[in-house]
Amino acid sequence: MDLGLKDKVAIITGGASGIGFCTAALMRDEGVRLLLADRDADSLAGAVARLREGGGEADAAVVDVSKFEDCRTMVDSALERYGTVDILVNSAGIGGDMQFFAESEPEQWEGLLAINLVGVMNCCRAVTDHMISRGTGKIVSLASEAGKANEKRMVVYGATKGGVISLTRGLAAELGRHSINVNAVCPGVTHTPMTSYLSEELVAASERFYPLGRLGNPEDIAPMITFLCSERASWITGQAISISGGFGRA
Ligand SMILES: NC(=O)c1ccc[n+]([C@@H]2O[C@H](COP(=O)([O-])OP(=O)(O)OC[C@H]3O[C@@H](n4cnc5c(N)ncnc54)[C@H](O)[C@@H]3O)[C@@H](O)[C@H]2O)c1
Repeated sequence: MDLGLKDKVAIITGGASGIGFCTAALMRDEGVRLLLADRDADSLAGAVARLREGGGEADAAVVDVSKFEDCRTMVDSALERYGTVDILVNSAGIGGDMQFFAESEPEQWEGLLAINLVGVMNCCRAVTDHMISRGTGKIVSLASEAGKANEKRMVVYGATKGGVISLTRGLAAELGRHSINVNAVCPGVTHTPMTSYLSEELVAASERFYPLGRLGNPEDIAPMITFLCSERASWITGQAISISGGFGRA
């Protein structure tokens, strides 16, 4: 199936690592022109170099998604470099500490909310003027299974991801008339730098909750994100799609 992505322009936040980078590599193979945005300048430079080695067109923007001005500048850079933005993938995020809510302090919630929820709002808002003016666009945000059911010891993280799912549904309702598709993907626990703290014992204990018997890899998530950004998914919007080895079945 030809996804029709050749020469499309995509901004991928959190593109220096994990799911964001894997998605960038897959899109690069489909001929997508990329702007990777991340706050980690060193990893970002390495990621862009690897994408270019494979023959891709890729550039970097050092961005803190929690700052709206950074997000505006990110979109301006993409427009300056490529002349348009067809796709926004919101993958920048943080996990926060594993902790019972009743033992947490309000100042520990601030970063999670500012990056995982307000950061996604900032990037969406920064790109909507352009997408509305063109009457087309695809936005895919990384939510989480934790945003659907939530879990012990990650309640605030789960709440931010629940917020991303709600934001996705609301934006889909508002932006559909401009032919802008807005969707979220909800991974289960996936092996990336974000989850590198998991010990072998914890991985083995967690895998028992997954009908397919293993945790995820970025390569399990990136194809769905890429498909949702393609013309082949043009009648899918407002969805929060689980990619989690059967963990979430609602
Ligand atoms: N790994 C998992 O188990 C899992 C499960 C469900 C959802 N997710 C979500 O998927 C997304 C990608 O996670 P990952 O596992 O690839 O993690 P990762 O840590 O490998 O990548 C996240 C990237 O986001 C960047 N980032 C963090 N804060 C930022 C900010 N303020 N501005 C710009 N960039 C910032 C980091 O520098 C990093 O490069 C996140 O939103 C995460 O919450 C991950």
